[in-house]
Amino acid sequence: MKKNILITGGAGFIGSHVVRHFVKKYSDYLIINIDKLTYAGNLENLNDIENLPNYKFVKGDICENSLIQKLFSEYKFEGVIHLAAESHVDRSILNPMEFVETNVKGTVTLLNAFKQHCDIDKSVFYHISTDEVYGELGNEGKFTETTPYSPNSPYSASKAASDHFVRAYHTTYKLNIRISNCSNNYGPYHFPEKLIPLMINNILNNKPLPVYGKGENVRDWLYVKDHAEAIDTVFHNGKNGETYNIGGNNEWKNIELVKLLCNLTDQKLGNSSDSSQRLITYVNDRAGHDFRYAIDSSKIMRELGWKPKVTFEQGLSETIDWYLQNKKWLENVTSGEYISYYSKMYEKYS
Ligand code: NAD
Ligand code: DAU
Repeated sequence: MKKNILITGGAGFIGSHVVRHFVKKYSDYLIINIDKLTYAGNLENLNDIENLPNYKFVKGDICENSLIQKLFSEYKFEGVIHLAAESHVDRSILNPMEFVETNVKGTVTLLNAFKQHCDIDKSVFYHISTDEVYGELGNEGKFTETTPYSPNSPYSASKAASDHFVRAYHTTYKLNIRISNCSNNYGPYHFPEKLIPLMINNILNNKPLPVYGKGENVRDWLYVKDHAEAIDTVFHNGKNGETYNIGGNNEWKNIELVKLLCNLTDQKLGNSSDSSQRLITYVNDRAGHDFRYAIDSSKIMRELGWKPKVTFEQGLSETIDWYLQNKKWLENVTSGEYISYYSKMYEKYS
């Protein structure tokens, strides 16, 4: 008998890497991927594994209680790895309620079903969260697992609320949980509304490269496959009730990163050295823009033995190569073609 493991949001950027990692590595698991297929969910991300016998896709919304209850009752999951979320800060500024809905209500709907249908001594509920819950840093210091929560955007406030619910269900109902808070991911299948893929896409299409404010904000970048490995490590070896910070120890000012992307992409395209940098355009700053994030990952490294394997040089080069080789994927997501294609192909789970 295979163990049933639920991964939520598996058609998104990080979720698709996590699904692929688990399906390929653990043939004794049946991986069930539930995804609503919002604009950010694209089953093309999983083309290479969609027919494997230990993988199943379920189209559905994690906020829909009756659907979630039925799914949990049918599969009696031994593990839940919860990634489904609205994930883009700029969208959260325009429409906070969507973030409350999926990130908070969706998480509590899953927790209730887990509590009701799973063996809470053996089954694990693992919530994937973000470093943004800790707020912003000045020039010095790093976030640790004991840094007080201080979210500044509607997105990070909704993720902070979901983290609190997961912890509260551990304390109140004794659920076997883990939480991890990760820094900015990058890599293949990253939706081109986020900094790195947006810049690559705009360079390829000779469009302006919008840098918010003065470009001096700092982010810590981690290759997405290293995050998938960290998730595997925490899921299997993490301790009940614990939080683990995950980061790349790889801080970049936005403007420096954009210039690096210009240079690397120009080199790969055989363009002259400044042909993309002239596209850099300073635009109005993001409201409430957090200045700096930096993660202290020493706990997961010390206690669970995880560390990133991919250098930034290698990861960024592979990422640009992937976008250059997958122009059709970029065209499909920027035109929105994938949405109608996959929503016609799958009926909602009922
Ligand atoms: P994403 O936006 O690329 O993907 C989110 C996925 O969730 C999509 O496939 C979408 O269709 C699905 N989804 C959204 N609402 C849903 C709903 N109501 N029901 C079912 N499915 C739904 O996000 P991502 O960047 O891959 O992030 C995944 C998780 O990791 C999120 O929880 C995010 O907060 C967290 N995280 C992301 C980063 C990052 O750098 N991207 C860093 C740290 C943590
Ligand atoms: O830190 C983890 C978080 O990283 C995740 O929880 C979020 O889901 C993920 O989206 C990401 O949030 P950021 O806001 O840091 O990522 P984004 O790619 O949107 O922006 C990175 C930085 O680049 C940020 O300082 C804003 C800036 N930026 C972004 C865009 C899209 C620009 O200057 N121009 C842009 O066009």
